Amino acid sequence: QSRQRVFSGIQPSGNLTIGNYLGALKNWVAIQDDYENYFCVVDLHVLTVPQDPKVLRQKIREAAAIYFASGIDPEKSVVFRQSRVSEHAELAWLLNCIAKVGELSRMTQFKDKAQKGGADSASGGLFDYPVLQAADVLLYNAHLVPVGEDQRQHLELMRTLARRFNNLYGETFVVPEIFVPKSGARVMALDDPTSKMSKSSSAPGSYVAILDDPDTVRRKIRRAKTDSGSEITASPDKPAITNLLDVYAAATGRPVSEIEARYEGKGYGDFKKDLGEVVVETLAPIRERALELLDDPKELDDLLESGAERARKVARPTLRYAWTRMGL
Ligand code: ADP
Ligand code: NA
Repeated sequence: QSRQRVFSGIQPSGNLTIGNYLGALKNWVAIQDDYENYFCVVDLHVLTVPQDPKVLRQKIREAAAIYFASGIDPEKSVVFRQSRVSEHAELAWLLNCIAKVGELSRMTQFKDKAQKGGADSASGGLFDYPVLQAADVLLYNAHLVPVGEDQRQHLELMRTLARRFNNLYGETFVVPEIFVPKSGARVMALDDPTSKMSKSSSAPGSYVAILDDPDTVRRKIRRAKTDSGSEITASPDKPAITNLLDVYAAATGRPVSEIEARYEGKGYGDFKKDLGEVVVETLAPIRERALELLDDPKELDDLLESGAERARKVARPTLRYAWTRMGL
């Protein structure tokens, strides 16, 4: 194995957003040639909260189409659905049996999500989420996991489980490293710049979806919350315009200072109008290609099935080795 392995995934839990693109997909495409990549549509993770099967089926297809349309090349990267490589669930079981209820109870993401409906009514799957996430990565002996800062605690647990397994049963898994990409933009919600833009949000005005049509994109940007004042400058006391500047910068690859200079003396209206066009131009080719793929279910299914086959070639031996190590 010559190049280091990377594993990453996005949950098909709603409409993938420009946050998913600028914070994850764009970086995946950029590192594609440097690593051996496993990019997964994590459709088992998404079951940890209630889903409508009809909607879910469509969202899984859309997520996969968006991966390819963003520039993930199936010749260079292994793209597949988590549920179609059953080794993920199987390894998760083995890891469950060395994970401790205490350490899972301390996961802040579980505590946050469970708080909403009360911990008693949260699914067992939600509690177990980080163990499945560990299985995702350990199955491929991935060295690097490109994720946002919000995933650091899960990554630490993943490393703990890998080390614990290796200590109990002998050297088996690579202990992966967290990998926060340098250009990892963190995009905030358009209606509330203090919370992350999320596809799981129920307020469509809070995010730009990758598949939004151009007029919808322009409208959402035009209506995005702004701060008091009128200057186009980034500063901690102006989180809304700072976020919009960050999106502009991430989409164009230009530094924020250059964009600030360009809009000196101009108002929010001019800036938002241009930003709308920048985002439309960024998303248009991705949207068009994704819609083409969605129109051709056979091509999309074939791409995903051949990705799953390649994934199984690595996942199967890892699982078997783990079985043997544990005495199964
Ligand atoms: P979401 O929060 O939209 O449900 P996921 O939890 O599935 O997305 O995250 C998938 C990937 O997309 C992760 O690498 C995450 O860091 C990235 N990501 C999600 N939302 C954003 C955002 N608003 N800004 C930057 N990156 C994001
Ligand atoms: Na999420």
